[in-house]
Amino acid sequence: MEYSKKILVTGGAGFIGSHLIDLLVKTYREYLIINFDKLTYAGNLENLKGVEQSPNYCFIKGDITDRAALTKVFEDYGVTDVIHLAAESHVDRSIDAPQSFVETNVLGTLQLLAVCRQFWEGQAGHLFYHVSTDEVYGTLGETGLFKETTAYDPRSPYSASKASSDHLVRAYFHTYELPVVISNCSNNYGPRQFPEKLIPLMINNIKHEKKLPVYGDGQYTRDWLWVEDHALAIDLIFHRGVVGQTYNIGGNNEWKNIDLVQRLCDICDELLGRPAGTSRQLISFVKDRPGHDRRYAIDSGKIQRELNWSPTVAPEIGLRMTAKWYLEQEEWLESITSGAYREYYEKQYGS
Ligand code: NAD
Ligand code: DAU
Repeated sequence: MEYSKKILVTGGAGFIGSHLIDLLVKTYREYLIINFDKLTYAGNLENLKGVEQSPNYCFIKGDITDRAALTKVFEDYGVTDVIHLAAESHVDRSIDAPQSFVETNVLGTLQLLAVCRQFWEGQAGHLFYHVSTDEVYGTLGETGLFKETTAYDPRSPYSASKASSDHLVRAYFHTYELPVVISNCSNNYGPRQFPEKLIPLMINNIKHEKKLPVYGDGQYTRDWLWVEDHALAIDLIFHRGVVGQTYNIGGNNEWKNIDLVQRLCDICDELLGRPAGTSRQLISFVKDRPGHDRRYAIDSGKIQRELNWSPTVAPEIGLRMTAKWYLEQEEWLESITSGAYREYYEKQYGS
């Protein structure tokens, strides 16, 4: 079959990438979706069970820092577009060991940009879509929202590496006229997120009646977006976004961490048939994350006005679906939380 687009999705075996691939493969049979992923601890081909047999999907194991491997994919498949999600994504890990964050997020992005330039220069009809984070904007006080025009002020090695990659993407647009688009999104939640992140970590610990480690005073605030709503936003921006532009994506759904953890306790108690209030007793305030950003909140007015996007899943429903999914995924959780992750968890939180 002659595909109208051959889209290289990097990091497609991870949390957001696998949901995006589900959407693209099923919606656009006329596109070939090439999943390029190193399969780090965070990548899992189980996440792609729903599409692995589809004729318009293929997987290539590879590292975005490997220029020769990228070149080969462009040669073999005639890649027309890139949606770039591959990254080291966990803030706590970046604090413990920043090196791989610079290697993948900065140098890997640079390799990818260079290969796109090499193959696409002087041609029309291509797009480099860079998936980024609201953390590049730094931290907010009690009020205010991040806009596309907010100055960058990253605070952690993770956000510094993502900010750096955003700057490189814009530099390739201005310097080499590479057609790019960037989106900066708030915290995603939903099935298949690696259980080092707040929501799945808490659900898993509630299930196993382990302590629920809330950092600092628990008053830190995040804006949570259902992961499939992020995938829908990426689809819209990919097809209708203006080249050279940035779009902020958020859930308009702010929670203080402690309130969110308490809500998860209550939902899980209900789903597990435990007496109300049982799991809240597991909450334990622990040492704070160094340089912990106090509050993130997104103004997503631009994507709402220009592309008619808005979140579709209400928080209560999304949290319930997420809790139910994790409580039922004994095997999935066991397979990824054994081995190296168990060592990481014990180092971080004790056994
Ligand atoms: P994730 O950690 O779940 O998945 C990352 C994927 O990238 C994994 O499959 C991993 O194997 C792959 N990968 C890592 N290094 C690689 C390399 N060198 N070469 C090829 N593949 C590599 O991450 P996620 O939460 O799905 O985030 C995806 C993207 O979205 C990231 O760029 C992240 O910065 C961004 N983002 C995430 C969130 C969020 O809340 N999770 C919010 C906004 C933006
Ligand atoms: O804002 C977008 C970002 O959201 C993404 O770019 C990152 O890839 C993603 O990991 C996420 O970063 P956060 O640091 O906000 O997510 P995390 O789930 O690690 O933490 C959410 C909040 O919960 C944060 O304030 C720290 C706190 N926390 C986290 C963990 C893991 C706890 O209190 N206890 C915990 O055990």
